[in-house]
Amino acid sequence: MRVLSGIQPTGRFHWGNYFGAIRQYITLQDNQQAFYFIADLHALTTIRDAAVLRGFTRDAAMDLLALGLDPAKATLFRQSDIPEVTELMWLLTTLTPMSLLEKCHAYKDKLAKGLPADAGLFSYPVLMAADILLYDSDLVPVGVDQVQHIEVTRDIAMKFNLTFQREIFVLPEARVMTETAKVVGTDGEKMSKSYGNTIELFEDAKKLRKKIMSVKTDSTPVEAPKNPETCAVFTLYKLFASESQQVALAERYRAGGMGYGEAKQALFEAADQFIAPARERREKLAANASYVEDVLQAGARRARAKAQVVLDRAREACGLKKRGV
Ligand code: ADP
Ligand code: TRP
Repeated sequence: MRVLSGIQPTGRFHWGNYFGAIRQYITLQDNQQAFYFIADLHALTTIRDAAVLRGFTRDAAMDLLALGLDPAKATLFRQSDIPEVTELMWLLTTLTPMSLLEKCHAYKDKLAKGLPADAGLFSYPVLMAADILLYDSDLVPVGVDQVQHIEVTRDIAMKFNLTFQREIFVLPEARVMTETAKVVGTDGEKMSKSYGNTIELFEDAKKLRKKIMSVKTDSTPVEAPKNPETCAVFTLYKLFASESQQVALAERYRAGGMGYGEAKQALFEAADQFIAPARERREKLAANASYVEDVLQAGARRARAKAQVVLDRAREACGLKKRGV
């Protein structure tokens, strides 16, 4: 069974990215053949500064490795190192109904806001379909907002298989971590770069504390009992704390006499303790850029070997010359 996922290097990773997506990648690398890539071609739809994109791509690779992605178990690569993906995207584009893409939320949301959308954003889900189908992926771990794109991928794959009357592509399934499908941000809404409410994973301790202190709470006075279940601080605390720590803090909420500042301090301590070992690994990786590049290159070689076989299958099916790999 092949697991595959991609993550865009459009900024430093935040808690939502980790608990909604990255954590699953790391768990799945143990028992499955895992392919993970940094979706730099997708990021081109939003980042138009070469140095920024290169920097975020490098950061993404280091962050993933520091968080526990093990190159001995999983194949980690840069999307743009596999030229086959853009070629497959074209083959898929020729069979993708406009109406299917018009329904996709990234494009639809932009239009709804009255913003001009470019063709890259419109066809973004076809590139994503190419990413998935190119490696015969069975399972795609993602956050809930990406499920629509996996459905589009299945539709395109089915249409291709049906049109050319053979099983060219494997139909993938999405895998969502339901309990962390929507991590909330500092304002209590979904954490997202586009809402400016994120808490970055690798924030240094001082900034982390400051960010946590800014999480929005209501104005219940210190002495009054509080409801942990409706509090963003407690919701975030659950991500990091053990079952017994959660029960203990929930009791303090309900008993009254505890201000939100104390709950925030508990959240800070849990989050800081959680990230400390990864922070240390991250520093070592930052001092060893050539190791990180070697990992990406080795990953690209492995991924490309598979990509060439699948692309050839698609080329042949639709009447192009086989390259014969
Ligand atoms: P952002 O919304 O900050 O731009 P991305 O769209 O790049 O984040 O998301 C990358 C991955 O992280 C996706 O798989 C997405 O589903 C997941 N993800 C992002 N934000 C959250 C969140 N708040 N809760 C759960 N998962 C999230
Ligand atoms: N679109 C995904 C996101 O924004 C990133 C991505 C690109 C991806 N290609 C993929 C995810 C293939 C899973 C599979 O998060």
